[in-house]
Amino acid sequence: MKKKLSKVAKDINNYLKIFLKKQSNSGLLLSMKYGLLPGGKKIRSKLLVDVGKIFNIKYKTLIKIGAAVECIHAYSLIHDDLPCMDDDNIRRGKLTTHKKFGESTAILAGNSLLTISFEILSSPELNIQSNLKIKIINLISKCAGHTGVAGGQYLDLNYEKKNVTRNKIIEMQRKKTGMLFQFCCLIPVLLSKKKQHFSRFANIGLDIGLLFQITDDLIDHKGTEKKVGKKTRKDKKKGKATLISLLGYKNTINYSLLLKNNIFKKVGIFKNKANDLKETLDFVVSRDK
Ligand code: IPE
Ligand code: IPE
Ligand code: MG
Ligand code: MG
Ligand code: MG
Repeated sequence: MKKKLSKVAKDINNYLKIFLKKQSNSGLLLSMKYGLLPGGKKIRSKLLVDVGKIFNIKYKTLIKIGAAVECIHAYSLIHDDLPCMDDDNIRRGKLTTHKKFGESTAILAGNSLLTISFEILSSPELNIQSNLKIKIINLISKCAGHTGVAGGQYLDLNYEKKNVTRNKIIEMQRKKTGMLFQFCCLIPVLLSKKKQHFSRFANIGLDIGLLFQITDDLIDHKGTEKKVGKKTRKDKKKGKATLISLLGYKNTINYSLLLKNNIFKKVGIFKNKANDLKETLDFVVSRDK
């Protein structure tokens, strides 16, 4: 699994490097690359490739769409680390973008990474039918904005130091993390035009995102900065509303294992075609960074 993941990460980074090379230079490019290229797992793109395998979608097409997803993800991390949000100094084993380049540059680099993802998707290099392109851009807009990542981040920050119910925590995590995972699971379904699978994968995508965020919370609770590449034990300090703060560490592990088994059941109908996806799910719960 780790080899397959690093191949996807390499292909994504190569595509992004070439795409960015063609841009006219700007003062922001350096900070954009800093927050985008080195160190990230590129797990969302791996998921796109795994679901793409179930629906026989061309790898190169998926890498281009994955590159757009990684730009949105990188923007969300750069902004997540700002002093007005989680106020973090270390990300992926190095200084966060605002610590390295300053706050205003980090905000603008984040904004530019968000818009460049629409540039990638609308560019002629992504050679798919234009009606599909419009659908994809429409979907990623909804996943990134106030009904997705940004809306979830708003809730995450507003729930700090408050008593929040389990359902509200899950809804917040589905938005801030789940919606981008959902996008990755829906793209291969959209491209294959197998509409009958749309709601199944919408649901699976949200569940995988939730599982990923819960594991991130578990890693924050138990991991070390050296291993994880970002400060740990921060959620407790900040009073973040997580399943761990509500149910405790052990119950949260059990919850995540149940959730993983449920997702396994939902992809069961695809038999061997879902093997890579299952491998990725095992990695999501067992990872230590
Ligand atoms: C971290 O995401 C933020 C969450 C949504 C939990 P990743 O763990 O995918 O971050 P990188 O890209 O690998 O650094
Ligand atoms: C971030 O969640 C989710 C985003 C959508 C950016 P976290 O705040 O838990 O991510 P880390 O732990 O800083 O990577
Ligand atoms: Mg956060
Ligand atoms: Mg954070
Ligand atoms: Mg975290």
